Amino acid sequence: MALRNIREYGEEVLRKKSRRVTVFNERLHMLISDMIDTMKDADGVGLAAPQVGIVKRVIVVDIGEGPIELINPEITYREGEEIKFEGCLSVPGLFGEVSRPKKVKVKAQDKWGNLKEIEGEDLLARALCHEVDHLEGILFVDKAIKFVKPDSEELR
Ligand code: NI
Repeated sequence: MALRNIREYGEEVLRKKSRRVTVFNERLHMLISDMIDTMKDADGVGLAAPQVGIVKRVIVVDIGEGPIELINPEITYREGEEIKFEGCLSVPGLFGEVSRPKKVKVKAQDKWGNLKEIEGEDLLARALCHEVDHLEGILFVDKAIKFVKPDSEELR
């Protein structure tokens, strides 16, 4: 298990547009494995490569059903809207109310480069949209319509 340093709000790397992955090698597999360890250790539901300082289009998500890795993810379908609070491991101590689609479909590649498509609703849809935003240098704070601290009653 290897943990990587999570970059925090204000660091330039979080604002960069990530590059597509073209080489599916051991180095990529190591990055994915470290990202999953880092996400779990920090109790997160998702993590994008720029959050560990790597500007590549790699995200991992785990909403409690096991980790999934998505390489070069693209949202191909959006349906509905849900406004809820979310947070980010790169923005500790703050939650924000953000509008996200209720359902999405995402086309991506697995760690070997094979195409895959996944569907997500509710929390999974929110996590997928949040992580894909990271690859464009977009943070939830850019989209939030209201902010609260972690001890707020509103989060219950
Ligand atoms: Ni985030």
